[in-house]
Amino acid sequence: MARLIFLGPPGAGKGTQAKLLAELLQVPHISTGDILRSALKAKTPLGQKAQAYMNAGELVPDDLILDLIRDRLNQQDANQGWILDGFPRNVSQASFLDTLLQELNQTCDFAINLEVPDEVLMARLLERAQKEGRSDDNEDTIRRRLEVYHNQTEPIIGFYRDRSVLTAINGDQPVESVTEYLKQLVCS
Ligand code: AP5
Ligand code: MG
Repeated sequence: MARLIFLGPPGAGKGTQAKLLAELLQVPHISTGDILRSALKAKTPLGQKAQAYMNAGELVPDDLILDLIRDRLNQQDANQGWILDGFPRNVSQASFLDTLLQELNQTCDFAINLEVPDEVLMARLLERAQKEGRSDDNEDTIRRRLEVYHNQTEPIIGFYRDRSVLTAINGDQPVESVTEYLKQLVCS
């Protein structure tokens, strides 16, 4: 059983590591970014409402995100653990999650903050733009995503430090080294 939250700026490797760890631990990998991108592709009402915010590098409003997380964590497969990637992303999402977990009688075991300097993040995301063509991987939008991260997401690090579940990891090292560290952390 493991319940983990991946914190960290855009391009830090949240998705990369969350996917590997979810396979290892056999728990669902819940990425709000992936859910929103699928909704966008399928042109659902959620996708249509979220699109402009995502393309601008802004957070999608909480009223579109919170119900989605409540529904997802209430699904059967999330009973035995989960890995959250990209949620929570501001103080109100963090306190919503706190209350939701109390209702579900669950606690978060680890909040993992992947630390990577902004210039490395910019380089990684510009490189990904060549390969994957994500519409928010262009220089202006990446810059805005980084600002939004520093202004709105970074403040929740203290929230998890206060609850003694925070672990900071240097994410500016090879993928395999970060994975190895994480395996030791969650499996020990
Ligand atoms: P989201 O999809 O969450 O994107 P993000 O946080 O901007 O971060 P990324 O997914 O780009 O990076 P990542 O940390 O997952 O890194 P990855 O492993 O991919 O959010 C997108 C948008 O959706 C938001 O801007 C917002 O609009 C909306 N949204 C999502 N959640 C929301 C929420 N809760 N509330 C409101 N709005 C929300 O790696 C990046 C690249 O680097 C890859 O190419 C990878 O191969 C490479 N890489 C990874 N690790 C390493 C390494 N160690 N060394 C070298 N390269 C590496
Ligand atoms: Mg991601």
